[in-house]
Amino acid sequence: MNLARITGTGSCLPQRAVTNQDLEDLVDTSDDWIWERTGIRKRHIVSAGETTASLAEQAACQAMQMAGKRPQDIDLIILATTTPDQVFPSTACLLQQRLGIHGCAAFDIQAVCTGFIYALSTAEKFIRTGSARCALVVGAETLSKIVDWTDRTTCVLFGDGAGALVLEASEESGILSTHLHADGAYENLLRVPGGISNREASGYIEMRGNEVFRMAVTTLGRIVDETLEANQLHKSDIDWLIPHQANIRIIQATAKKLGMGMERVVVTVDQHGNTSAASIPLALDVAVRDGRIQRGETLLMEAFGGGFTWGSVLAKF
Ligand code: COA
Repeated sequence: MNLARITGTGSCLPQRAVTNQDLEDLVDTSDDWIWERTGIRKRHIVSAGETTASLAEQAACQAMQMAGKRPQDIDLIILATTTPDQVFPSTACLLQQRLGIHGCAAFDIQAVCTGFIYALSTAEKFIRTGSARCALVVGAETLSKIVDWTDRTTCVLFGDGAGALVLEASEESGILSTHLHADGAYENLLRVPGGISNREASGYIEMRGNEVFRMAVTTLGRIVDETLEANQLHKSDIDWLIPHQANIRIIQATAKKLGMGMERVVVTVDQHGNTSAASIPLALDVAVRDGRIQRGETLLMEAFGGGFTWGSVLAKF
C-alpha cells in the first residue's frame, strides 16, 4: 500500500469583494449583526466571466506549481462542488480541458460543505490502492448563484472561491485517516429544493440556521472524538485545526472541544464567508503560504454540511 502526501496547495478568490456594509444596501442587516453572529467581515463574489471552473483552474495551477507538477503528471482529478458550471461535462472534466490534461479519470463529488473532505478521502483511496499516483483534489464553488439575495438569513453567509491540492503517492506518512458520514434525514433543515429532475431549475439555499448550528456543533464534536480515537492520539497531538468555515462560533466550539487556543486554528471565515466545498482547501493554502503550517505538523480538517454530511481528514503535512 502506498501512502498519500500533500505536496502542493493553491487557491483562488474572485476579484470582487463584498463587505457587510455593501449588504446593508441589499437587505435589512448590519455589519454588527453579521460580525457578532457569524464572524464574517466580507466575502468574494464572481463577476461575469468567472465560474466555478475558472476559479478551480487558477487554484489547481498554483497547487501544481508548488508541487512541481506538469499537466502530464496528473493521473486523477476529483473536484468537489455543489455549483457546477454545467450539468455535464462535469466541472472536473472542464478543469481537465482547461489544464490540457488528457485521459486520466476526472469526476465531481457532491457532498455540499463536506465535499472537499469526501474528495480528499476518495483520492487517498485511489493512491493507497495504487490506482493513481498524483491526484489533483479541488473544492470550487460559486455559491452566490444559489443564494437568494433578498433573504437576509442566508445571503450574508456565503461566498465564492476555490482551493486545490496535489496528493501524491509517497513513502512518508501523509494522510493518516479519513472519516466520512451522512444522514439524509435532515433535508428540511438545509437544502436547495430544486434541481433538473424535479423543477428544471435549481432554486436557492433554504436553511433553518439555528437548528443547523446546534447539529453542526454536536456532530463536529463527535467527529473530533472519532478521529482522535481511531489514531490513538491525544488532543495535544494536533498542531492545526483547519475547519470548514461556516461560522466563527461553530469553529470556536470545535477548538474548545480540542482544548486548542484559537492561535492554532486557521480562520478565514472573516475574509471568505462560507465557500462550502472550497473553504477547507482555501484555508489550508492561506496558512501554508503565510508560513504558519510547516512540514511534519499534524492537521485536522473537518466539515459539516447539507445532506447532512460530515467528516474529517487527519494528515501529517
Ligand atoms: N441581519 C439581521 N438580523 C438577522 C439576519 C441578518 N442577516 N438574519 C437573521 N436575523 C434575525 C432573525 O430574523 C431573528 O430575528 P427575530 O428574533 O426578530 O426573529 C434574529 O436575527 C435571530 O435569528 P437566529 O436565526 O436565531 O440567529 P442565530 O444566532 O441562530 O444566527 C445564523 C443565525 C444563520 C448565523 C446561525 O444560526 C448559523 O450560523 N447557523 C449555521 C449556519 C451554517 O453553518 N450553515 C451551513 C452549514 S455548512
